[in-house]
Amino acid sequence: MSTQKISTQALHAGHDTTKTGGTRAVPIYQTSSYVFNDTEHAANLFSLKELGFIYTRLNNPTNDILQQRLAAIEGGVGAVVFASGTSAISTGLLTLLKAGDHIVASSSLYGGTFTLLNVTLPRLGITTTFVDASNPENFKNAVQENTKAFFVESLGNPKLDVLDLEAIAEQSKAAGVPFIVDNTVASPALLNPIKHGANLVIHSLTKYIGGQGNSLGGAIIDAGTFDWTNGKFPEFTEPSAGYHGLIYSEALGAAAFTFKLILEGLRDFGGALSPFNAFQIIQGLETLPVRIKQHSANALELAKWLESKEEVAWVNYPGLESSKYYKLAKKYLPNGQSGLVTFGLKGGFEAAKKVTDATKIFSLLANIGDTKSLIIHPASTTHQQLTIEQQAGAGVTQDLIRLSVGLEAIEDLKQDLEEAFKQI
Ligand SMILES: Cc1ncc(COP(=O)(O)O)c(C=O)c1O
Repeated sequence: MSTQKISTQALHAGHDTTKTGGTRAVPIYQTSSYVFNDTEHAANLFSLKELGFIYTRLNNPTNDILQQRLAAIEGGVGAVVFASGTSAISTGLLTLLKAGDHIVASSSLYGGTFTLLNVTLPRLGITTTFVDASNPENFKNAVQENTKAFFVESLGNPKLDVLDLEAIAEQSKAAGVPFIVDNTVASPALLNPIKHGANLVIHSLTKYIGGQGNSLGGAIIDAGTFDWTNGKFPEFTEPSAGYHGLIYSEALGAAAFTFKLILEGLRDFGGALSPFNAFQIIQGLETLPVRIKQHSANALELAKWLESKEEVAWVNYPGLESSKYYKLAKKYLPNGQSGLVTFGLKGGFEAAKKVTDATKIFSLLANIGDTKSLIIHPASTTHQQLTIEQQAGAGVTQDLIRLSVGLEAIEDLKQDLEEAFKQI
């Protein structure tokens, strides 16, 4: 395990310049396939006797550098990248689970993930019990005989609830199931869930890691710490019908899940990341540690300023002393609490609409983690497909406005909101 700090890893990990013709930048290998030396070489690659590139749906040299970099930064044994964060989540769960299996998940999730778990996966026989993750005991109480995973967001979008990861990890260990943590909002520059007991970490690379709002991508980082031989996961301990009898846990040890994700997940579901997007995301990742500090500083200052405004009914930011997550934020996010802030206006939904429509620097759109500031009303957009009760579980109230605070001058951001408040 590297002892380098994230600022160094973000620039160098995974890139051996002697293998890329001395290029200082990571090159884009824009190819769909790779020439085999001869039929024996090809057969060896397919049977894993030799490791190498076969076809870009499975792996690609640009993507591989991004994978190695993410694994180094999050502290995993391997990482796999996908076409989007959603592709990472769906492929990860479909590689891990089968009809009849069950998930215990936090109710505070990104709307798209909630719908995947609540509506789409049940169609395939995979069900989820959603729990209030603020009490780790709720996970234990929801475990069934067929439970095969715990799923949470380390910093929920948009509830901004900081979870007690270590307490939930204890419950997942007791239940003998992998603890999956979507770490998108916190980013690996502020929090490494593996250090707190996560077995698999998920990122939408579209957000802070890419950081410029120009490329979709997703990743799963495998801690290599889960014991797939505990009797609950025969797909890892018995010969795989999907990969000519390979016994993943025997052949690949700690990297069993990483390889299953590539050899079966990417092969069968096909959500490969374009090498061009991998290149763009690498550019973003290189500056993540410096950007996230400024996102966090701007967000904290704006949250404090909002608290002082007469038009504002409430403000939620885990770095505020008034936040009920402040204590957990001190423990899990001591170096910054990322760039999302939510607030409500005394004028409720109508006032929220007016303000959202009136900002000029904050762009009204459905994304987070861009260098540019963004604004949205989740109840009518990202969480629209949820019932009012489900929205409440996800922390979405009708008056809630979500800001993704960018890197503009803080005075200009305050001024933009000040002007917008005049429309109320
Ligand atoms: C926490 C979280 N996870 C996953 C996703 C899905 O990522 P993508 O949009 O890259 O599919 C999002 C998207 O907003 C998100 O906020």
